[in-house]
Amino acid sequence: MGCEVMMDEHTQAVPPVFVALDYSTADEARRIVEKLGNNGIHYKVGLQLYVAAGRSFVEELVDMGKQIFLDLKFHDIPNTVYGAVAEVAKMGVQLLTVHANGGKGMLQAAVDAAHTYSGSSTETRVLAVTLLTSLNQYDLESIGCSANSVSDHVVRLAKLADTSGVYGVVCSAHELAAVRKVTTLKTLVPGIRPKEACHADQARVATPSQAFQLGANYLVVGRPITQDPDPVRALLAIQTELSRTGTGEIG
Ligand code: C5P
Repeated sequence: MGCEVMMDEHTQAVPPVFVALDYSTADEARRIVEKLGNNGIHYKVGLQLYVAAGRSFVEELVDMGKQIFLDLKFHDIPNTVYGAVAEVAKMGVQLLTVHANGGKGMLQAAVDAAHTYSGSSTETRVLAVTLLTSLNQYDLESIGCSANSVSDHVVRLAKLADTSGVYGVVCSAHELAAVRKVTTLKTLVPGIRPKEACHADQARVATPSQAFQLGANYLVVGRPITQDPDPVRALLAIQTELSRTGTGEIG
């Protein structure tokens, strides 16, 4: 990654690592959760696993004491999103996503529903996805946003998110500095690749240490852990790298 990294002046907490459970069956996901044991506390359930295994599997993870990021990226009219977020909040998940470009009314509806329907033990927090990392300048133009660069577009959506009461935004490490200039919202960063890991289809990647130094509050890591022959070792290596970054040993 080519951008300069700098630690916050004030102490920043080591970001939790959400392991992405990108599987098509609950059994496959259960196997990796079992393997990671007490080392794996935070998990991301996305569209594939949710469509395959549904609410009962998410509730199973919550009942095991895991902290869940339900990444379903809602984008609909405010009333519909309100209803969907209410159901998610009742499940006891920690984080959920909606698209920032659903507009202020939709974002506020999501925040309202999360607040109203969260249980007493877990307040469900809403994250706004700024711009999918799969989209480039050409895509922006093709959807009628030719006036903006990708980075300007991300910043604009982060500002909108900031005025809507959401807890945080999802962006790549490459946009973290620009986003953090315009908002103090929490940031969740996917596309994390330890130095030695294969990038696969991720283009806008950063190492765990780089993302931490740039100010990420939460990290999402999938294949570098789930497809490693020794997933426990892979997770512990990332957690160790983050702790060492936090104490200034890496930097
Ligand atoms: O395996 P890998 O570490 O690439 O997994 C990243 C996870 O983060 C996937 O579940 C992917 O859907 C998700 N994600 C992403 N980029 C975004 C938002 C979510 O890679 N902008």
